[in-house]
Amino acid sequence: MNILLLGNGGRENAIAAKIEQSTKKDMLFVSPGNTGMSSFAINIDLGNNLSTIKEFVLKQNIKMLVVGPEQPLVAGIADFFAEDKELKDVILIAPSKQGAMLEGSKDFAKRFMQRHNIPTSRYETFTKDTVESAKSFLRTLHPPYVLKADGLAAGKGVLIINNLVEAEQELQTMLFENKFGNASNKVVIEQFLSGIECSVFVLTDGKNYKILPEAKDYKRIGEGDTGLNTGGMGSVSPVRFADKDFMNKVEERIVQPTITGLQQEQIDYKGFIFIGLMNVEGEPYVIEYNVRMGDPETEVVFPRIKSDIVEAFEAVGKGELDKYVLEIDNRFAACVMMVSKGYPEHYEKGKIITGLNCVKDCMVFHAGTKYAGKDLITDGGRVLAITCSGDTLEEALANCYRNVECISFDGAYYRRDIGQDLM
Ligand code: AMP
Ligand code: GLY
Repeated sequence: MNILLLGNGGRENAIAAKIEQSTKKDMLFVSPGNTGMSSFAINIDLGNNLSTIKEFVLKQNIKMLVVGPEQPLVAGIADFFAEDKELKDVILIAPSKQGAMLEGSKDFAKRFMQRHNIPTSRYETFTKDTVESAKSFLRTLHPPYVLKADGLAAGKGVLIINNLVEAEQELQTMLFENKFGNASNKVVIEQFLSGIECSVFVLTDGKNYKILPEAKDYKRIGEGDTGLNTGGMGSVSPVRFADKDFMNKVEERIVQPTITGLQQEQIDYKGFIFIGLMNVEGEPYVIEYNVRMGDPETEVVFPRIKSDIVEAFEAVGKGELDKYVLEIDNRFAACVMMVSKGYPEHYEKGKIITGLNCVKDCMVFHAGTKYAGKDLITDGGRVLAITCSGDTLEEALANCYRNVECISFDGAYYRRDIGQDLM
């Protein structure tokens, strides 16, 4: 089978590497793809234009479309395929536009959770017209205050503020000064949840589901979770506190009602659901839904899947995911992200990367690299994701750091404390 994967990050490199292992795969195309998969897949930049994608799918006889990032989903790529006579039989690992609203609108997601009794923090949604009620609502909450732009804001739309006056000012700039563009025309204000976060991933055909390995990511640039937010500095899987008891609660209180809710509301959903959770004294609460896999969580979740992922995707296409046997590697996986000096603010590109020929027992996923002649050079803030396994978390991390130290480029930075909070 010929497969098209959309995306260009470390996440897509990890998905592509897993697809590459499948006996069902003939040709794998990735748009636009990156250097990390260029040795086994065909990278081609099709852009966002749906007719260009359609033409390519027909020409290359593509039978499966896997979408990595959220933007094409929120824009409705799945509906475009489903409604087109020539494309409707392509297997989609991509929820419908309506399904993608779980990520595309925080207000939609909150209302969905409320309708289906899914545990999440208390909230209300406000617009320009209701700014005074928003301020009153803020006064009913205890600090810190959580303000969220309703729409997609490239992971930057959430503000957590300690001081009430500052929270009111930020609310004002979100609603009246387009702090996050149109994404903050509506603002969700919610109660802060205090606990420890983890990410749970579900693959669903809309009626059956499989829970994939859970993971924890490390978002801040600095050690001890300090400094600015990034696209992710590392991840680990499994997560020690997500034990059987906790995961049973997650399945019963969150995963099942989410899938049943989608069915009841006749929302077509074939693909991944990423549930961002807060563990509050052993009780799971949903912080957010995403309609895709996480990055850099995929870089530890996918390497732990032992069964054929393309068979899982075929089962999704047929609506027979219940018949698929998901096999998981019980060992630990850890991922350390190597980034450019200055990231997530200003950083330089074009630094020569060396040492990749010395890595051992390790997977290297590319996030921001390219070739300049024979040299591999940096081409982004996040550069390489280094993933290793081990019988313990300690061993997985030690393997990671040993390999990270083999790789170098001018200004390379990484956090040395990935996974330490879970030891
Ligand atoms: P989101 O984009 O909704 O995932 O929010 C980004 C980050 O903000 C999350 O990963 C959490 O660390 C934090 N966050 C969001 N909502 C809350 C909340 N209600 N309580 C505590 N932290 C939150
Ligand atoms: N790691 C968080 C995300 O992918 O949104």
